[in-house]
Amino acid sequence: MRIQEKIDQYRTEVEQWKPTSMQEVEAFRLRFLVAKGLIKNLFEEFKTVSVEEKRMLGKVLNEFKQFTESRFATMKEKFSAAQPTVKRAVEDLTLPGPGFNAGAHHPLSIVRKEIVEIFKKLGFIVAEGPEIEDDWHNFTALNFPEEHPARDMQDTFFIRKGAGNDIALRTHTSSVQVRMMEQGKPPFRAIMPGRVYRNEAISARAHCFFHQVEGLYIDEGVSFADLKQTLYHFVQELYGAGTQVRFRPSYFPFTEPSAEMDISCTICKGAGCNMCKYTGWVEILGCGMVDPNVLENSGIDAKKYTGFAFGMGIERITNLKYEIKDLRLFSENDIRFLQQFETEVI
Ligand code: DAH
Repeated sequence: MRIQEKIDQYRTEVEQWKPTSMQEVEAFRLRFLVAKGLIKNLFEEFKTVSVEEKRMLGKVLNEFKQFTESRFATMKEKFSAAQPTVKRAVEDLTLPGPGFNAGAHHPLSIVRKEIVEIFKKLGFIVAEGPEIEDDWHNFTALNFPEEHPARDMQDTFFIRKGAGNDIALRTHTSSVQVRMMEQGKPPFRAIMPGRVYRNEAISARAHCFFHQVEGLYIDEGVSFADLKQTLYHFVQELYGAGTQVRFRPSYFPFTEPSAEMDISCTICKGAGCNMCKYTGWVEILGCGMVDPNVLENSGIDAKKYTGFAFGMGIERITNLKYEIKDLRLFSENDIRFLQQFETEVI
């Protein structure tokens, strides 16, 4: 191939050399610019041609050499400049740090907190008791008859059974009422949130553990009117003004009289939906005047003191707020579920 043809071919190659890294820039240098590179070869060959040809080719060859060198200089600058710029940005200590996402509150925690806040404003304190409980605090002191079905293996996880001193996972937070009354002196005004356990098959509508908030108010002259007003206020605060309540007579061993409280359905506003089974009402808690036997069992003078108690399931209250249809979601720790609630960024 003649020198002119080679120059043309190399020039195309130089023009099309678009390096994407410093290594490719270096490959360019090795191919064209080093002592045994293509340009040096051309100059060697140039020495062998005729004087006439030399006059013609000398300028072209020099021009090609300069062109290649200046391309190389541009490439090199581009890549050696790129790295320090990035580095400088990383090292800029005046830039604000990246945000740290600490995760979201669990919906049950959000709702428990809301419930606690409402009752705190009414002067209730927060109390807790053990999840592993004895028969006395979970059943006997609460006036459960000896053969009550709730003591049956079907409902309760027993840890130790027999000798009149069963130990079980508590089936409700009412056990904390007894502990509180045994340990202190009236008046009592407390709410007791916590986890409870029942021997149930796990499904969308039932779980072997869930959460309750228990309430207790004991003083001289406390009446059913106080109970109604307190719970009415609670519902207005939690679900908004105008939410209706109704009390239905019911039975619990530890209260007399006993009631269940319904609220107007928060989902359909009374029009009828799946949540309220087309009745317009949903039950949210059990309540009543503390049975005098329970007061006496716990060392409180039932002639002097009266009081009310109530207990509600946090899952149920949460479902009514967020329309969560499957109870299992609360304990599966699926990040897609959990991320949908109040996020806290520190
Ligand atoms: N302990 C009951 C339950 O687990 C709920 C309950 C009902 C609590 C009435 C009370 C009450 O304090 O007065 O179903």
